[in-house]
Order: sequence, then C-alpha cells, then structure tokens
Amino acid sequence: MFHKKIHIFLFSATFIIIFFETSNAVSINVVSHGAKPDGKQDSTKHFLSAWSSACKSNEASTIYVPQGSFLLNQVTFWGPCMNKIDFKIDGTIVAPSNYVSLGNSGYWILFMKVNRVSIYGGTIDGKGDDYWHCRKAGKSCPPGARSISFSWSKNVLVSGLTSLNSKSIHIAVDHCKNVVIKDVNIKAPSRSPNTDGINVQFSTLVTISHATIMTGDDCISINQGTTHVWIERIACGPGHGISIGSLGSYSNEAGVENVTVTDSVFTKTDNGVRIKSWAKPSNGYARDIKFRNLIMQNVYNPIIIDQRYCSKRECPHQSSGVKISGVSYEHIKGTSASPVAIKFDCSQSNPCQGLKLKDIKLVYLRGSGTSSCKNVAGSSTGVVIPKSCL
Ligand SMILES: *[C@@H]1O[C@H](CO)[C@@H](O)[C@H](O)[C@H]1NC(C)=O
Repeated sequence: MFHKKIHIFLFSATFIIIFFETSNAVSINVVSHGAKPDGKQDSTKHFLSAWSSACKSNEASTIYVPQGSFLLNQVTFWGPCMNKIDFKIDGTIVAPSNYVSLGNSGYWILFMKVNRVSIYGGTIDGKGDDYWHCRKAGKSCPPGARSISFSWSKNVLVSGLTSLNSKSIHIAVDHCKNVVIKDVNIKAPSRSPNTDGINVQFSTLVTISHATIMTGDDCISINQGTTHVWIERIACGPGHGISIGSLGSYSNEAGVENVTVTDSVFTKTDNGVRIKSWAKPSNGYARDIKFRNLIMQNVYNPIIIDQRYCSKRECPHQSSGVKISGVSYEHIKGTSASPVAIKFDCSQSNPCQGLKLKDIKLVYLRGSGTSSCKNVAGSSTGVVIPKSCL
C-alpha cells in the first residue's frame, strides 16, 4: 500500500515535470534547421533560421547546438524577441580562419538588442592565428573580430562557455544592463595581440565570476560609461591583468563608478589591478573602486595607476583630465616581479583623491620592494609592505 502510494506520487511528479517542460519551452535543434556539424560547411544561415523561429515564438525557447563542430561566419542575432531564449551548446562553434571573410564589422557572433538571452556551455573557437600573424607582420589587416558580443541588450547570462583564440576581444559587453558571466574559460596565447578576455563598456549591473582567463591582453577591462560591476573569483594569467581603462581617450567621456574586484588570483601577469588613462584632456572619471582579497603570483605591477598612458605621437606634454577618486586596496598579498610593487602615477592636473591601502603584503623576491606615489592623496592602515608612500 505504502509503495503504491510512492509510485503514484513519483508517476505524477514525473508527469508534472514533463508537462511543465514541454508546455514552457520550445526546443529548436540547429541541425534540424540544416546546420552541419562537420566544421566545414557554413552553418550561418541555419543558425539564423533557428534564431528567427525562437525569436518569434510566444513561448520561451531553447536553441540546441549538439556535439560537433559548426562553422559560422559573421552572424548577428537581432532582438527584440517575443520571449526568453536559451542557447544550450554541447558542440563547438568555429570561425573561419580566413579573417577577410569575416568582413570589417569587428564582430563575429553578435547579439543585438536582445532581452533575456542565456547561453549555457559550449566552445567558441575564434581561429585567430592567421589574423595575429597579419598583425604581427605589420601588414594592413581588417579590424579583428570580437568573438562574442552583446550590444544594447539586457538580462543576459553566459554560463559555462569556453572561448578560444579570439581574433580580438573574446567577450564584449557594450551598452548592456544586467549581465551575468560565470564559469567561463578563456584561452589565447600570451603573445596574441589585443585578445582581451572580457571587455565591458557603457554598461551597468555586470557580474563576472568564476572565470579562468589566459590571454595576450587584459583578462578583464572595464571601460567608459560603466557602473555597478562585481568581479569575483577570477584566475588571470598569462595576460595584462584586470584594468579599468584606458579611460580618457575622448575629451567628452562617461565615467566608471562602483567596481569591485575580489577573491581573485593573478599569475605571472604584467599587471594585477590597474587603472589607466590617457594623458590628455577629458572629463572622464573613475570612482568608488574596490580591490580586495587578491593574490599576486610573480606579477610585474601588482597595484598600478597609470595616468600617463600615451603614445608619444598622440599626447605630448599633456596631463590626464580623468579624475580618479575613492579607490581602496585591501588584503592583497603575494609576490611582485618588479621592485615597484605599488605604483601610483596620477595626473598632475587632476591628482588622485582618497586612495586607501590596507593589509598589503607584496614581496619582491630579488631585493627590497618600494611603492611610488605621484600626485596622490590618500591613507594607509594595517600592515603595508612595501612601505606605503601615501
Ligand atoms: C555597487 O554595485 C553593486 C553591484 O555590483 C550593487 O549591488 C551596489 O548596490 C552598488 N552600490 C551602489 C552604492 O550603488
């Protein structure tokens, strides 16, 4: 009697689950729209056809990319759509290695004006090798295509994605609101040019967590017009570290505010946490920035503010208009690969205000480390090694 009850219960529970799944999500397999998992035949129009049926569905839909390798050329998934769309990816999406065929837009996979799009799993391979060679040879090359981009979108989730060998930025977020990027794996060689891991600009409410990023440029860069960013549990390196900026490339520029970077590890990176701005007039700013609970392993500039970022050609003898204020560094430990473990090189015309150092221990292994301050006001508390210049 008792068992029978359980069976009936399980039966109805299963029934209910199936009932809800089928009634609430339309599943669309890209292969049934003609995509070929052979990595050779161009599947762009088949992915677009799957997107178009998902996009006009009144119900939530899941676009399924099964195992195999799918070749996609430049593709834009346009919103707005009628309902929520999930991409569930078990396979690999590959770009053409012929960079000319991607055109001049600077994008490979672009989501434009979407709302409630989630991407689960999958690998995207930007096949950047030939393009990097073009760059390194100093030839005239088209703009490198970012691998996956979200523009003018909101409520975006990227979870469990692997991005390999992008021609330029791996994941770009631009003019977006409420974006979560988690459990991602980003990988390109340390000498691949401008292959930033995750690049954010003109966006608000962005969370990046549990990411492993090994690349040839910034692991993460937060740029103009970006507010309320939370970055947590990042393993960065090789790469150029986590950067705010470059800011101040434009004389009229939106600022960066309320960014937290916490519980992360930097291994053999050029920089740990960096704020950089061009040495030229600008009304940009960076304020309310928190860096805490970080481990630096043989990092060249573990803590750095560089407001003299400049190519000699572009800004001779000028100072940065970008105002940097309210930046705290707390509980940052490890080793510095250069003697100047803490470097604040702020603008002469706009000195940094309200910098705070607390519980810092950055050891230079081949001698005594130092900190360096130019045009800075701030304070330090607790133990600070090397001795604070604030
Ligand atoms: C700062 O951003 C976080 C999200 O990262 C948000 O929860 C918090 O409310 C923001 N703080 C302020 C003062 O706006």
